[in-house]
Amino acid sequence: MPTAPCSSDRGPILVGTWSFSLAAIESAWSTLNGASGSGDQSGAGQGSGSTLLDAIEVACQHADLDLSVDSVGLGGLPDSSGRMSLDGAIMASPIRFAGVAGLRRHVHPVSVARLVMERTEHTLLCGDDADDFADRHGFAGQELLSDDAKAAFETWAAARRDGGGDPIDQRTDQSLLGLRPQDPGLGSAAGGRLFRPNDGREGAAPAGHDTIGVLGRDASGNLAAGCSTSGLPFKVPGRVGDSPIAGHGLFVQPGVGLATATGTGELIAGICASFVAVETLRRGGTLLDAIREVMLRIDELGPRRPHHQVGVVVMDAAGNVASGAYRPGFLVATRDEGGGRVSGPDLVHRPEDDGLPESAREGLAKRDKPNPKEDP
Ligand code: GLY
Repeated sequence: MPTAPCSSDRGPILVGTWSFSLAAIESAWSTLNGASGSGDQSGAGQGSGSTLLDAIEVACQHADLDLSVDSVGLGGLPDSSGRMSLDGAIMASPIRFAGVAGLRRHVHPVSVARLVMERTEHTLLCGDDADDFADRHGFAGQELLSDDAKAAFETWAAARRDGGGDPIDQRTDQSLLGLRPQDPGLGSAAGGRLFRPNDGREGAAPAGHDTIGVLGRDASGNLAAGCSTSGLPFKVPGRVGDSPIAGHGLFVQPGVGLATATGTGELIAGICASFVAVETLRRGGTLLDAIREVMLRIDELGPRRPHHQVGVVVMDAAGNVASGAYRPGFLVATRDEGGGRVSGPDLVHRPEDDGLPESAREGLAKRDKPNPKEDP
């Protein structure tokens, strides 16, 4: 049941999760608009929307190499064994999609995923075999653990040893509590750090996790999305979140819209957040309906832990965008013909405000912001 064609066309646009993604989508803007990018290392990406896929890939590659971003690529934090593993995906439609999970030697999950999408009939490769696949197709392997991440791991491991925590049961791990990804915004001394904004000042342990998700639309109306993440800091080795899986970290339905989700992958995966958002559009809902539906599904899971967060960004087929977050601290970056900018989400759900009168709920004005799709 596709929605009717949108009347207004917003032109080419890239949108990314968290303020650090502004630099990433800025780096991809010229690619989206025709310059050749560094994406598509396989040379296999010809065809409708391949330039858009190049732009998605360039944006995610930029974040992968940004050492100031502590949740993606080389700046990311390792698992509880002290080893890095990266997940990512790229998607142009439900039949043009692939993800990779648990890369330990290759820094660009979206590039490897694109190779899987364009050179195989499969949709998900994982672990050593995904790294081997990348090797066979000419991607150079490298060490992924930065000195900074190694130091953060050692701090975390020492706190964990001191706390006597169960090495497997992260639900008992007090060192993971108390923080969730909080975007300090552009220009902050914390840079792209969402988990360690106090690192070095208060000795705070990192917690929570997030992802770069990029949504794109080109001048021809093609849609595509990508996700790249190092996943939950100090995760159980082998843990995979939402980012490499269609419907979880990203979803694209040509002619309808696309979505990406970031934050606590276990929540996003459990409710198929990106699929739910796009399906809401497909059934005639507005962009804000799509955000609200995701928040409703999270509420239905019952009380959440303090570090849980989900941010979601939804775009319709005309390039109109809305975003929302389960809790404060989420920002979104946009690059279109009007330039680049970072903004807060249109809706912050704030479960802690439940029971308060509506007038006392922060973010209410944003909840009532008109849906751009409904604008004349
Ligand atoms: N959202 C990224 C992850 O949970 O792995």
